[in-house]
Amino acid sequence: MKDYFREVENIGNELKKNFDEIPEILLVLGSGLGFIADILKDKITVPYKSLRGFPTSTVSGHEGLLIKGSLNNRNVLLMKGRFHYYEGYSMQEIALPYRAIFYSGVKKMIVTNAAGGINKSFNKGDIMLITDHINLMGDSPLIGKNCDRLGPRFPDMTYAYSKRLQKIAEQCARRLKIKLRKGVYVAMHGPSYETPAEIRFLRIIGADAVGMSTVPEVIVANHMGVEVLGFSAITNMAAGIEKVRLSHSDINEVAEKIKDRFYALITEVLTKI
Ligand code: HPA
Repeated sequence: MKDYFREVENIGNELKKNFDEIPEILLVLGSGLGFIADILKDKITVPYKSLRGFPTSTVSGHEGLLIKGSLNNRNVLLMKGRFHYYEGYSMQEIALPYRAIFYSGVKKMIVTNAAGGINKSFNKGDIMLITDHINLMGDSPLIGKNCDRLGPRFPDMTYAYSKRLQKIAEQCARRLKIKLRKGVYVAMHGPSYETPAEIRFLRIIGADAVGMSTVPEVIVANHMGVEVLGFSAITNMAAGIEKVRLSHSDINEVAEKIKDRFYALITEVLTKI
């Protein structure tokens, strides 16, 4: 563990060297939004594989990249390639890049993901502002010895998703005439989608949308005092709500359709936070 935290600090210091000035904002983009990496201006790109200790991304064979650039005249750090628990990474491995990035000086994180709609008033194609989460992954990146230099042993999660940033996001959505749903995101470890019985259970316990990501990085952000704003793209209604089977390709197709609206919202939010 001691070496792990030394690694966090080493990578954090390396990031400071690589990027010169560290942007205030980290963007973590889910399905369909990877294109934003291509439109950043004045880019500095650092492959994960050049950062010792960074896991390397396995999703769709894409190379993991950490990119600094300007989006809508706002400097951001962007993670292209995300690590999921279902890929077999430990929570510590998933957490390391975020810990290093936050250690280097990032103060705010915008996370997006694809999720299944549990709330029956939602529709496929909606965007949901995440107001809170339920961690049903059965694990946490904070398990194990705590590094007091990074954050407290028992971090508060009352405002895991910043109320201030949520208010700004709602104002931006209103201005852009984008209908924004609000709700609780529940994280399952996956990789199978849920059963209809699990979805009924998740609705009873208060979840509005379900996915397989986001919660580990949000826990780490809260541990280190980083403000979080989160959005889910409702790419499908969760299992059993519509009498259809779920498929990754259908979900990706809907993510593609949401992406322009999502992009507009994120770039607007960026200028206001
Ligand atoms: N369940 C879990 N993860 C998901 C879903 C879902 O229905 N849709 C997109 N990601």
